Formats: sequence, structure tokens, C-alpha cells
Amino acid sequence: MIFETIVTTRSPSGAVHIAPMGIREERDLLVLAPFKPSTTLENVLSTGYAVVNYSDDVRIFAGCLTGRRDWPLTPADRIPGVRLVAALAHAELQLLHAEDDPLRPRLHCRRVHLQNHRPFRGFNRAQAAVLEAAILVSRLHLLPREKIEAEVKYLSIAVEKTAGPAEREAWGWLMEAIAVHDARQAERPV
Ligand SMILES: Cc1cc2nc3c(=O)[nH]c(=O)nc-3n(C[C@H](O)[C@H](O)[C@H](O)COP(=O)(O)O)c2cc1C
Repeated sequence: MIFETIVTTRSPSGAVHIAPMGIREERDLLVLAPFKPSTTLENVLSTGYAVVNYSDDVRIFAGCLTGRRDWPLTPADRIPGVRLVAALAHAELQLLHAEDDPLRPRLHCRRVHLQNHRPFRGFNRAQAAVLEAAILVSRLHLLPREKIEAEVKYLSIAVEKTAGPAEREAWGWLMEAIAVHDARQAERPV
């Protein structure tokens, strides 16, 4: 099972990096699987730490993919790191073992601290739709135009029916990114 989270890391010089990332739980370990090249990968390998943020603010997922990475942060409790102020909960991780791979290394981490901050309010279909659209946007260069169009059409139903202002804003950023990608494709010589 994969859980979609926001991972916060720091470089050895302290620069913060925020990236949406799918996390696997394997027995008592958490496994991150960043595709190469990845700042998250470099930061975890060089510092040995990461924070997994569990958040229902889908603007952070959509924002990170559309150049909006400036989200309020606060220091982690037990490791040298930071967490999102907006997190419903967060886990502080220490790297135990890195399994190298030419494409997608796996970072096996021990959870040294887990803290809840606010309650989970239930599933929201627009939030799920924004996550799916964010994944589409992260793969725009790989996907055919027809697939993107068909998926956006389907996902927009949940947004129209169930979104709040945050979900609408996040959806708007993603649709803008798709429009920019389309315009660039149209400009390319055939
Ligand atoms: C919901 C969601 C889950 C993602 N999961 C992963 C993942 O598991 N591994 C990965 O490399 N990128 C994943 N991505 C894409 C990254 O967030 C994005 O490419 C990011 O820039 C990773 O590279 P970085 O560590 O250099 O920032 C995901 C994106 C979304 C929206």
C-alpha cells in the first residue's frame, strides 16, 4: 500500500526541500522511493533524515508541482529537520539502509517520532481528484494528450461536486500547468 505524503528534507547546508512522495510501510519501517535525479534522495543520503508530513491541504501537493514551494514550516522535534505547519500529523525518519537502483533507489527508514496535530475530517473526492491531477502533471512529458484530456474531464466531476476553496485553487494551478504545457507543445516544430 502506498500513502501519498509531503516529504521535507534539508541539505547539509540547511536548505529546505519539499516534495510530494509516495511512502510504503514495510513492517516497522517506512520506505521512500525517489526517482533519480532527486533533491530528496540527495538530502536523505547526505543527512540521514527526512520528515513525512500527512496533510489534506492539496494545495501543497499541487503547489510543489507548479513552482509554489513556500509553505509554512516549523522545526521537527527529535531530528534536525522541519515539518509543515499544515500537517495533520508528521513522522520523523532516520535512514537505516539505502538500496541503490539506477532508476529508483529505496530508502528504508526508521520512524523515530510520530505526532498528531489535528483530526482527519474524512475523505473528500475533490482532494483525491487533485492528487490524481498532480500525478498527471508530474508526467505530462510522458503522457499522450488524449489520456490527459480524458482523465481531466473525469476528475473535474469530483472537483465541481465536492471541492472547497483550497481544492479549487489547487485544481486551477494544475489546469494552468497543463495549458502551459499544451501551448509549448503547439509551438514545437513538427
Ligand atoms: C501524489 C504524488 C506522489 C509522488 N510520489 C513520488 C515518488 O514516490 N517518487 C518520486 O520520485 N516522485 C514522486 N512524485 C513526483 C515528485 O514529487 C516530483 O517529481 C519531485 O520534484 C521529486 O523530485 P525532488 O526530490 O527532486 O523534488 C510524486 C508526485 C505526486 C503529486
